[in-house]
Amino acid sequence: MKTIIANFKSNKNSQEAQEWVDVFSTEFPIDSPHTLVLCPPAVHLPIFQTLTTNPSIKLGLQDISPFPAGAYTGAIGTKNVEDLSVEYVIVGHSERRQYFHETSQDVANKIREALQAQIRPIVCVTKNEIHAQAAAIENEYRNKVIVAFEPVEHIGTGVSDTLPDILTAFAEIKDAFGSVHSIYGGSVSSHTPKEILTHQEIDGFLIGTATLDPHSFIHLVQTIM
Ligand code: PGA
Repeated sequence: MKTIIANFKSNKNSQEAQEWVDVFSTEFPIDSPHTLVLCPPAVHLPIFQTLTTNPSIKLGLQDISPFPAGAYTGAIGTKNVEDLSVEYVIVGHSERRQYFHETSQDVANKIREALQAQIRPIVCVTKNEIHAQAAAIENEYRNKVIVAFEPVEHIGTGVSDTLPDILTAFAEIKDAFGSVHSIYGGSVSSHTPKEILTHQEIDGFLIGTATLDPHSFIHLVQTIM
């Protein structure tokens, strides 16, 4: 059983989101062995919420405010999603670090906010960020996250990293974070080698591009063992 995170990034308007949900709800089996965490743009969460009647389907945010509720214009915080069935949040994605200049300390603040609201953080790191990110997180929270190894050079390129590279990074993650679930993200698709999609030590995948078409996403999930 794997945890599969679907990251829609800034794609789809509400009509397209509804079409995705309609296809998914008729074609995705109710008895999937995996946990699927769907992370649409936050404005589309109410559309996706209907899917959570399937016990395998959970909802996640792509980011969270590092601040509590209050005067933080534009930020979406834990309070704002309290009644939207959100159970997970992606934090520290390389696109947030690159384009929004987020630091490991910002990411640690988001992790604290999320965990205090019982939302499980999925922390994205490249190989170079593993130790600095772990060190920035308060001790009591460090092993309560899922860590996604996300090598930037493999995100959105169509070519996933190799199994030895992934397992080496996972060993470093365990060294820095303790015993945490470790997942891989970066061009995961049904073309990713089976030895990766089915490897016991890989607890799941974070998927971007291949989530956008519901048919190919369902096919990919069915390839993962
Ligand atoms: P990709 O995105 O699957 O399109 O490479 C993955 C990610 O950004 O985490």
